[in-house]
Amino acid sequence: MKRSLWGDGSGLDSGVAAYTTGDDRRWDQRLLRWDIIATSGHIGGLTEAGLLTTEEHATLTGELGRALDAADSGLFRVAEDDEDAHSALEHRLVDHLGELGEKVHTGRSRNDQVMAALRLYLKSALLEIEAAVITTARSLIAFGNSHQRVVMPGFTHIRRAMPSSVGLWAAGYAEVLLDNLGLLDAAYDLADRGPLGSAAGYGAPLPLNRRAVSDTLGFASPQLAVTAAQLSRGKLEATVLSALWAVARDLAALAWDVVLFSADEYGYFILPTELATGSSIMPQKRNPDVFELTRGRAGVIAGLATQAMAVAGSLPGGYHRDLQLTKGPMMEGIDTVNAMLAMIAGAMPRLGVDAGRCAAGAGGDLLATDEVYRRVREGVPFRAAYRQVAAEIKAGGEIPALDAEAILDARRHLGGAGAPALDLIEAIAERANERITDRADNLNDVIARLMGTGGP
Ligand code: ARG
Repeated sequence: MKRSLWGDGSGLDSGVAAYTTGDDRRWDQRLLRWDIIATSGHIGGLTEAGLLTTEEHATLTGELGRALDAADSGLFRVAEDDEDAHSALEHRLVDHLGELGEKVHTGRSRNDQVMAALRLYLKSALLEIEAAVITTARSLIAFGNSHQRVVMPGFTHIRRAMPSSVGLWAAGYAEVLLDNLGLLDAAYDLADRGPLGSAAGYGAPLPLNRRAVSDTLGFASPQLAVTAAQLSRGKLEATVLSALWAVARDLAALAWDVVLFSADEYGYFILPTELATGSSIMPQKRNPDVFELTRGRAGVIAGLATQAMAVAGSLPGGYHRDLQLTKGPMMEGIDTVNAMLAMIAGAMPRLGVDAGRCAAGAGGDLLATDEVYRRVREGVPFRAAYRQVAAEIKAGGEIPALDAEAILDARRHLGGAGAPALDLIEAIAERANERITDRADNLNDVIARLMGTGGP
């Protein structure tokens, strides 16, 4: 690091510089475009406060627009000699505009600057994750619809329990995945607060219109007490990661099921060649590594969430450099869950179903409960019917067989195997998609208004 924004550039041990920067530059690279956008909002506030003239504002806006184009096309990057994205941007503005560039940091600190950039990035990233959750849920709904009336066993304790259907299996995962949109929305709402003007954490002795700057950047509201800004850093990142964990957890459970159901021993699902990996020693093997790594990655997300919680949870109020360490886990979590969602959404349409093996698995002793309820429908009290069937099984008696249609017809209550509510779940996906599209449009409008562009 040759250039820093602070001090006179002398004296700092190079090992200390490397240690304090760590891998931050790598994560800051993706903040760069958002830092430029946040800076466009910030200079509007400086102009309103009389700290920049309208001509200076126009010159800076033009320069920031070019910086955004350069960042989006990869020509402007956080360099090895920049401490972080914020330094890279200020250096560029000073290099290009001289004294005018030196005015830009008026009324702010990197402490509120990083939060503004992170939150704009997060709003966009969360909307992308939400869209991917909806896409994955829809791939499950389509899978469920294609195999809606295929009966298969339902499991408790990993043991065959009662008849279910492939439609019902898929419906459950689609529904719980969509439930997570509420958690992601809660994280989005936390991110949707403007921190600018809080500076290092205590504001600045300037007539800053913090509310106007927050509004220009499209935040739902500014953070009110400037001290709230730093108190919310780290907690937001941990909240995002716990919402991501919920998504990852559902994908992991789904993946676990696919690992089991595609094993020869079960044979309900068929892994096509494109999804199956092989063994270097056993030529016959077709392994479900894709699903195992989805399961494993949910554990990684839990670890990343724990990292953010541990770092943020050990701090008093105010800014602390420790907070920098919550940035990487959050971005890694976002990348990982995006990859998991894309993999599962792509895998579902390719996953085969062996209807014969499914139906065979859903017969025999699995119909014991159906036989109990047949007697209940005839007026036998439930516990008595249960005892009768249990005694007959013990004595080696056969449970009467039922065909798939009879099994499904007996389960037409809401969300049952014969009526898995896939259409109602699709309606949830549809409404969520409209909400997310509106939010994404609003964010793009903010960028277009500030920068005169629609984004990358
Ligand atoms: N990279 C730093 C972070 O993520 C930027 C803020 C630096 N502020 C400071 N006071 N050293 O927190």
